[in-house]
Amino acid sequence: MDTHIGIIGGSGIYQMDGLEDARWVDVESPWGTPSDQILTGRLEGVNMSFLPRHGRGHVHSPTDVPYRANIDALKRLGVTDVISVSACGSFREEMAPGDFVVVDQFIDRTFARQKSFFGSGCVAHVGFAHPTCPRLSSACVDAARAADVTVHEGGTYLAMEGPQFSTLAESRMYRDQWGAHVIGMTNMPEAKLAREAELCYASVAMVTDFDCWHPDHDEVDVAQVIATLTGNGDKAKRMVAGLPARLGTDRTPCPHGCDRALDMAIMTAPEK
Ligand code: ADE
Repeated sequence: MDTHIGIIGGSGIYQMDGLEDARWVDVESPWGTPSDQILTGRLEGVNMSFLPRHGRGHVHSPTDVPYRANIDALKRLGVTDVISVSACGSFREEMAPGDFVVVDQFIDRTFARQKSFFGSGCVAHVGFAHPTCPRLSSACVDAARAADVTVHEGGTYLAMEGPQFSTLAESRMYRDQWGAHVIGMTNMPEAKLAREAELCYASVAMVTDFDCWHPDHDEVDVAQVIATLTGNGDKAKRMVAGLPARLGTDRTPCPHGCDRALDMAIMTAPEK
């Protein structure tokens, strides 16, 4: 099987440069229309697809991103490995604006989104104790380090509904009681859907701010978020450039079983 890397770009990342044979394609999905066309091409012989999560022009709010259509569209294109690149706030002094956090756990506080491809008619419960793919995550960490980005390996991402930022009480609770490291609005249900679609998924959270718990930063400042994002976007592009060499063109089965997540998950009896 050929490796096919899918990048879902977050706020501030609406383009991917340097692809060979690059073209924007429409992908139809029974789950709706994806956030945008998908930019397909190759990088060092490896198939790449890029989807701007919020659409070019940033038209989809975190609640309204068509998460199911996005994951399904990438799957239909043959994507094997999904890398989510997104902006986040930090709950830790040492995870500073401009740093990347390759997260490995999530707390899902979103409530107004469709979170599964399964439901009445076909019921499935995939395992999600380890929601990201360790192999893909380490390729991202290595590529980011090689690109001179300060990257933290592992961390818990609190996914909130938004679009408003958190209150001070929420921010303190997520940080002090719940032990979260970063906060964002988009990795859920994306990670759950990627698992249901048997895709490896890694999340590169790019720190833009300290949310509001920090004594020196008592409010998220959108101007600061945008300024940091512009710098982070360049770093993300440098990281992506290092991925083909690390993942290779021939894809071996995922050692962690992401690509076989449905093997033991479907409860509904097959139709006779
Ligand atoms: N995205 C970027 N910064 C954020 C924050 N502080 N909270 C939620 N989402 C964010």
